[in-house]
Amino acid sequence: MSSSGFDGKNFYKLAPEERLKRVQQFVSLNDEDTSALKNSAGLSLQQANQMIENVVGTIEIPVGLGMHFLVNDKEYLVPMAVEESSVVAAASKIAKIAKTKGGFSVSTTESIMIGQIQVTNVDDPYGAKMRILAKEKELLSLANEQDPLLVKFGGGARKLEVRVLDTLSGPMVICHLLVDCQDAMGANAVNTMVEALASEVECLAGGRVYLRIISNLAVERLARAYTVLSAESLGGEKIVDGMVMAYHFADADPFRAATHNKGIMNGISAVALALGQDTRAIESGAHAYASFRGHYRSLTTWEKNAEGDLVGTIELPMAVGLVGGATKIHPVAKANLKILGVKHARELAGVMAAVGLAQNAGALRALADEGIQRGHMSLHARNIATAAGAKAEQIDLVVKKLVQGGKIRLDIASKIVEEINAVGQHGNGNGNGNGNGNGNGNSKGSKVEVPLAASISN
Ligand code: MEV
Repeated sequence: MSSSGFDGKNFYKLAPEERLKRVQQFVSLNDEDTSALKNSAGLSLQQANQMIENVVGTIEIPVGLGMHFLVNDKEYLVPMAVEESSVVAAASKIAKIAKTKGGFSVSTTESIMIGQIQVTNVDDPYGAKMRILAKEKELLSLANEQDPLLVKFGGGARKLEVRVLDTLSGPMVICHLLVDCQDAMGANAVNTMVEALASEVECLAGGRVYLRIISNLAVERLARAYTVLSAESLGGEKIVDGMVMAYHFADADPFRAATHNKGIMNGISAVALALGQDTRAIESGAHAYASFRGHYRSLTTWEKNAEGDLVGTIELPMAVGLVGGATKIHPVAKANLKILGVKHARELAGVMAAVGLAQNAGALRALADEGIQRGHMSLHARNIATAAGAKAEQIDLVVKKLVQGGKIRLDIASKIVEEINAVGQHGNGNGNGNGNGNGNGNSKGSKVEVPLAASISN
């Protein structure tokens, strides 16, 4: 279900339980979903043990909601699982700005993945290429026999391509099987198919087949997004110019592009993780695609239009699926899928491209203006306060003192916690446990202002 009409006002100011209640008013989550999200019934050890080997536990990552995402005229609440502060806030902030000019327009190609068959030791590689291509129809049928269900749902092997590749071991014949994976990510289907074709291809080529495996450079499974961000909302012409030049920098320099694209993947991988997708497949596809045009460059483009507004685009492979993976097994991923409300893998891919574009804009806006540390500061300070052993009721005060001091360091936080505890013990009576955090004596009796809200006013 989409978040159409969702009341996102002051969402960031609510307690997590209240936020979840508000989400429940718009998305039909059952008790199992809400318990999974609240972590009282998340992934059990038994379930985890079915997923991977040598299981000894599970690890929790916060799930936050990306807000204000208007994608192809549909509103989405976007679950994002990420350990890094400011990611959710920055994406939401840009999505809010984008919304004023129509949000994000996205499109996707068909869900075609490529399976590779590597044939070595071929005497006549170009002759082999012709012999294999001549049997394309038979080979596609053999591939499709491996997955009648996929074929029934409209997918299946579509095409065979053959390349002769120069390598350190001499020429190799590389076959590409193009498979329409529909709503599956497709690794299982594609790997089964290429394994099934191997001996036939080996005979035709007169060589030796070694590798039979999917390629994560999914150039036939692309997601694209486009948006316009008003210069005024971004903070004016100077910031727009700075953002455009930040993109030019990334596009020209792999050192910068690596960080620029990491920022994009902050958003995309967070959505992928929240929905139980194969984050590594998506990441390797993205970075390989970023180098596909000669050298490693930006996955986004940013330009200024005639009105002086910022126009952004992104295009990257997006191998995501809604059937056959963890999305339908992991209780939290299942709940997150309901919140996001996408029905098909291609819809998910489009939303993820929009999130990546927003995330990139959020980072570039901050970098072109005050830098990212200020925005990070209070959230980072909360993590440091927690790491320093601050109790829940002390965290706001510790954060305030850290931010005031301008240095967010564990040793300083530990000292502040010690001081608060000492004052609490020596009895001004309310240093501990009253939630006012007034143990330092400078905010007696009044609730400490929480800087967190200011930093993520999304
Ligand atoms: C930090 O996780 C991501 C950024 O470094 C991205 C960027 O520099 O564009 C802020």
